Order: sequence, then C-alpha cells, then structure tokens
Amino acid sequence: MSAWSIPQQQKSIGIFDSGIGGLTVVHALMKHLPNENITYFGDTARVPYGSKSAEVVREYAFEDTRFLLQQGVKIIVVACNTVSAVAIDDLKSHFDIPIIGMIKPGATVACDVTARGQVGVIGTLATIASESYPRAIRECSADIRVHSQPCPLFVPLAEEGWSDHPVTRLVAEEYLGKLRDQGIDALILGCTHYPILRNVIQETIGSHVTLIDSGEAAAMRVEELLREQDLLNTSREQPNYSFFVSDVPQKFKQLGQIFLGKSDLRVTKVHLT
Ligand code: DGL
Repeated sequence: MSAWSIPQQQKSIGIFDSGIGGLTVVHALMKHLPNENITYFGDTARVPYGSKSAEVVREYAFEDTRFLLQQGVKIIVVACNTVSAVAIDDLKSHFDIPIIGMIKPGATVACDVTARGQVGVIGTLATIASESYPRAIRECSADIRVHSQPCPLFVPLAEEGWSDHPVTRLVAEEYLGKLRDQGIDALILGCTHYPILRNVIQETIGSHVTLIDSGEAAAMRVEELLREQDLLNTSREQPNYSFFVSDVPQKFKQLGQIFLGKSDLRVTKVHLT
C-alpha cells in the first residue's frame, strides 16, 4: 500500500534535522506517542546548519520539507532548532501541512516554570543570533529577562559521546559560568544535541535551575495538535520507524545508540534533488 492510500491517521510524523541530533526529539516523540509511525530525515551531508547563514539554512529547510512531503507524512516536526529559529515562518506560510518547530514550545515552558523571571537560552550561533527564543518569550511575558549564550562546541562533544568527560565539564564551565552568575532559574536547551549533555549542564549550572528540553516540549505540542485535528494513530500495529540520511548511514546507525539507545536503526541514504 502506498503512503497516499493509507488513512490520514496512520500516516507518519515527518521529522527532520541537520543530522543526527534530531533523534533526541524522536526519542521524546516515541515516549509521548508510542503508536505513531515516524519518518526521519537527517541532512548528514550538509550538517552543521548552526554555523551557516540564515539564507542557506532556509534553502536547506525547504528541500528537507519537500523530501518528507514526498514520503506522504501527516505533520512535519522541525527538530533542528537552527531551522526553527530562522525558517519556521517561511515553511508555515509556504507548505499546506501542520508544521511544528522547537522555539515556541520551549519558550512557553520556560515562561511557565521561571519564578524569578530570569531565563537562560543556549543554542548554536545561528539560533542565538536570530534572537528567536527571546522574541518568543517576550510574547508570553514582557517581564522575563533572557540571557543567551551560544555553545557551538557542545555539538561535537555530544556526537563524540563525551556526555561525562572532563573536557565537556571544562567547556560547560566556560560557556555556562556567566549564565550561572546572572541568576537564571530556567535554562532552555535550544539545540537538538544538548539533552545528551544534560547531566554535565545541570551540574555546572546548579540543581536549582530547571532545564527545559525543547524537544520534549515540542513532542507534547505535537500530541496536542494531532488530538485537536483528529490525526492520532489509533492502530494497534507495531509502529514503523524509517530513517533517511543524505550521507554516511553507517555513522548515523552508530550514533543512533548514543541518541536513541537503539543500535538497529533501518537507515537509507537518499540524494535530495
Ligand atoms: N541540529 C542543530 C540544532 O538543533 C545542531 C547541529 C547543527 O549545527 O546543525 O540547532
């Protein structure tokens, strides 16, 4: 049966990222929505997006979205915070399908949990430069102060699996020391990779600071939206997970262990045209 002839509810959630990091969001989706089929695209040939211009990231985001639409998905989750930060409005106005990014869900949770009104945001250079998190937080409350910090080295450290390593602690101290001194009480993990380094980040920033995983927040929003639009998959069949990448599927499979705790991912290499 082709993806087009199956009932809308049974179609996959389409999710894309610049590479492997979006698997932290897949993890959250699998936890919150265990019945759902998932189709993932990781642009491993062109990662990282976080150090590229907004214009190039937008171009890639359109190609990634078109690929998922060709797979016949029912909703698109933009797992990549960098894409969510610079291209979500363009994607939403161009494509006629529900599209969920990471920024609004993460920002909304931050507004709910901060008691002191001092929120930290960490992300790639492009995400922080876009100021999309401070903007989204200002929309919920003008009184909250946002302290932003790019943490580009966290991405390779997470991919190396150095989630509990002295080098990661050193880098975390360098990046997060200032945020700690600014007295934040909530910190948005505004990049797909950062939940992998959660323990080191929590130890460095202090246990009184609530860490907000934007992927977790987005997964809850996906559930809400599917429910609202009567798109939840109620089938009792084992869900189907398909993974596509634009290069080196072998490395993706290996890293799947770190990001998803699964070593048996079915990964297909595709060429975006
Ligand atoms: N996926 C990216 C993000 O969440 C991190 C990796 C990259 O720079 O492409 O912003």
